[in-house]
Amino acid sequence: MRIGIDRMAFATTNEYVDLVELAKERGVDPNKFTIGIGQDQQAVVPPTQDIVTLGAAAAQKLLTPDLAKNISTVIVATESGIDNSKASAIYIKRLLGLNDFTRTVEMKEACYSATAGMQFAKGLVALNPQETVLVIAADIARYGLNTPGEVTQGAGAVAMLISSNPHLLSLEDTTVAYSQDIMDFWRPLYATEALVDGKYSTNVYIDFFLRTFNRYQQLTGRGLEDFVALTFHMPFTKMGKKGLEGLLGDRNDETANHLRDELTASQLFSRKVGNLYTGSLYLSLMSLLQNSKDLTAGSRIGLFSYGSGAEGEFYTGILEEGYQKYMNDVAQELANRQQVSVAQYEKMFNSQLGMNDKDIEFDDANDHSTFILKGQKNHQRI
Ligand code: CAA
Repeated sequence: MRIGIDRMAFATTNEYVDLVELAKERGVDPNKFTIGIGQDQQAVVPPTQDIVTLGAAAAQKLLTPDLAKNISTVIVATESGIDNSKASAIYIKRLLGLNDFTRTVEMKEACYSATAGMQFAKGLVALNPQETVLVIAADIARYGLNTPGEVTQGAGAVAMLISSNPHLLSLEDTTVAYSQDIMDFWRPLYATEALVDGKYSTNVYIDFFLRTFNRYQQLTGRGLEDFVALTFHMPFTKMGKKGLEGLLGDRNDETANHLRDELTASQLFSRKVGNLYTGSLYLSLMSLLQNSKDLTAGSRIGLFSYGSGAEGEFYTGILEEGYQKYMNDVAQELANRQQVSVAQYEKMFNSQLGMNDKDIEFDDANDHSTFILKGQKNHQRI
């Protein structure tokens, strides 16, 4: 039985900041941001958006009443949760109007957990092929104003339906997961911004990619020629390039150069949104599927998922016939956004609910999203 991604949808905020403007404001050469880091624009988050509104918005784009009826489980993967106890999946289930006889849970392991969610969903569907699992990766990546990580912030959500006989990507059986207890990026309970050892994290990421890919090769006997593209967790697009180049080395043959071209296609959307944490790999996949000219049904795509702390997984999928029809048009979504100035971005950055424990009502006059965080009352988000 084939099990995999039946459809996918992406949602982000309506505002973005231009990173050339941010570089100038920070006194940095813009080429460092656009070439050195590989980012052009960054999603800006108004106080009226959080991972629940973003996750619900992404899921709503792919659901029809018929599809909604078959959902047995909602898994939300995030590392920017809004509660230490209650799962954001419960809020999202209500906002989407799903049946109450639905299992709802939130998962965490930095940027990796959506991949775990997908593998667990695959297991549920294998047991009950008529069920569908909604996996949502939703995050707001915050490092802080004027920090080295600022240029690698971002926000958004990717929703995926995992089912039997999927229309988009069938997951293959061999997957390789690898984990080690290290401190490359973490966020203590009292912090609204992550702590990160960026250079160390980059090296661990490359190391985990090579380890998981090499083991995958040993287990399957497959080589680079068996892939039409490799996609990566992309906290900033240079990182995906570092991963791929770590594998290709100085290879300059047709296979290697083709993988480089496909990597460029997979980077285009992340360049304009920034880091989605859990959703980042899946936005790279959507970017590949919507921007590559060379994909055909039956092609094998490799996916490298990474979460700090740290855990990596390399797995593969086979593209289905007509896959183009089962995603929302991300380029269109991005074209509809509005640019804000660096000053407006800073104001919004500082207006997030964060650790505020007071009642608050947000001005939502400028937020025309389907789902809006209105504020907080009696310690409950509205
Ligand atoms: N023109 C062109 N390129 C330039 C340049 C210029 N004028 N100036 C600098 N560069 C290049 C540098 O050569 C460098 O390129 P390489 O990495 O290829 O050598 C690149 O720009 C970045 O320069 P620096 O290393 O000097 O930049 P930095 O010290 O400001 O740090 C960073 C960059 C480490 C990525 C930092 O932004 C950061 O810490 N980001 C957050 C950490 C992060 O995203 N880590 C990713 C893994 S963690 C993760 O994915 C999260 C998770 O699981 C939760």
